[in-house]
Amino acid sequence: MKIQLKKTDIEGKIAELGSEQPWNHNILLTHGIETSPKQQVSHGKNLVKWERIKPILNMLDVSGKRVLDIGCNEGFFSTKISAMASYVKGADIDTLRIKKAKFVQSILEPKNLDFEVMDIYSPEIQKQEHFDLCICMGFLHRVPDPFKAIAAISSITDTVLFEWKSLKHGLHDEPYAYFSQKGIDKDDYYGTEYWLLSYAALESILKRQGFMYFYRVDDPRQRRAILVASKVDRDIFKQPDQILHRGRIPTLLSHTKRYVKTVVNIVSGKLNS
Ligand SMILES: C[S@@+](CC[C@H](N)C(=O)[O-])C[C@H]1O[C@@H](n2cnc3c(N)ncnc32)[C@H](O)[C@@H]1O
Repeated sequence: MKIQLKKTDIEGKIAELGSEQPWNHNILLTHGIETSPKQQVSHGKNLVKWERIKPILNMLDVSGKRVLDIGCNEGFFSTKISAMASYVKGADIDTLRIKKAKFVQSILEPKNLDFEVMDIYSPEIQKQEHFDLCICMGFLHRVPDPFKAIAAISSITDTVLFEWKSLKHGLHDEPYAYFSQKGIDKDDYYGTEYWLLSYAALESILKRQGFMYFYRVDDPRQRRAILVASKVDRDIFKQPDQILHRGRIPTLLSHTKRYVKTVVNIVSGKLNS
């Protein structure tokens, strides 16, 4: 049943949950209250990301489908998609994220939606019923072993929508995996960054799991990559990839910078490989 909390009660609960762990998603609740009302510009932020993936979800047509949102965080995307799909499960390893997702659920009362604490590497994942689609966003660069995570996802679905932080340099048609230079995130352990994969690296991993069809949405300005991958052919794969070009000069400059650095390191004897 919908909890009819007063505006001040909701604000109080948001503050209480936020003091346990800062909010990540900005979710519009009742009384016009937002969980994290900051301006969103980065492609990593939920409202910006939603605008980027909405047309893709429309192309995939999730109506009547079962969708898994792995690494669902506070459940913004699960909640949105539950209005379009027949059933959505939001899963995340972080109990505090799921606690907030369940609070949001108690206010908005979306239909056909469950949230569950679940580690992608746990045997629990194998016990899930088959999903028609898995959305895997902001996730791949947050797990230490993307190959094992993708194998787990592959065991319960045929189609995945990936959104991830990819390489800022290098060629995306070459299979690069770059280990993040950032340290362990002490305030948000599960937000620690691990591998930044190029498109070709992710596609190579997926091919070993039987995925054959790919659709890329590449916007190199912020290097947040999007890839739809499937084991079965779907209408979306008849579309040409969406590649946003940032212009030859900026591309040349960013690649040349790295090249010049490499040349300088070779000449000064620092680089020996
Ligand atoms: C950066 S957030 C992205 C959240 C959301 N999908 C989005 O795009 O805004 C990554 C999420 O993955 C979760 N996560 C990290 N490791 C995980 C694991 N092994 N199993 C399940 N979830 C995990 C984190 O707790 C976090 O909520």
